[in-house]
Amino acid sequence: YQHRAITEDLYWIGGNDRRLALFENVYPIPRGVSYNAYLLMDEKTVLLDTVDKSVSNVFLENLEHLLGERQLDYVIVNHMEPDHCAALGQVLHRYPEAVVVCTQKALDMIGQFFGAFPALRSQTVKEGDTLTTGRHTLSFVMAPMVHWPEVMVTYDAADKILFSADAFGTFGALGGNLFADEIPFEGQWLEDARRYYTNIVGKYGSQVQALLKKAASLEIQMLCP
Ligand SMILES: [Fe+2]
Repeated sequence: YQHRAITEDLYWIGGNDRRLALFENVYPIPRGVSYNAYLLMDEKTVLLDTVDKSVSNVFLENLEHLLGERQLDYVIVNHMEPDHCAALGQVLHRYPEAVVVCTQKALDMIGQFFGAFPALRSQTVKEGDTLTTGRHTLSFVMAPMVHWPEVMVTYDAADKILFSADAFGTFGALGGNLFADEIPFEGQWLEDARRYYTNIVGKYGSQVQALLKKAASLEIQMLCP
């Protein structure tokens, strides 16, 4: 199993793809790419996003292993693009009791992408809404067009972590390291981060500026893109 502890109750359960030549069939990724998802094991269990189809098997194994006997209580969907949510349908089939927490636009997209889930449990959220899961209180910040219309980001006030969706994303597979301050980020990663931003998100500059203004009011100690 490849899950990695970030804090005492937060785990990275993403995966890495080193076989894909072109991201979105356009952008060369000679260093691969990581798909990042996170599992919060509070009094309630919370999955934040899922992963691309290419790494969905290892993701589902890691999720099942970490949960053990526990059920999955919430799935927060920050972004519906398939590199974030391709495995969402499988998650909802396996854990039908989980409540999907997302924007109304994302909820509409779930039906369009995966077909109807007659028993789907959902909770739509708007700017500033919160979800308390025990020690953690998560709040939701709308981020439309960074980089799709349904996007939001999630802030954990307990550990001051921002789950930032596409914001602060980068190309490049992880090589066993998880934290940017454990690697030569400026020397080996900044170029790919800049290339990712420019190609994927950069055309929505004014919306990015709006999100950065909102983020400036948050005390952020860690970004989980
Ligand atoms: Fe995206």
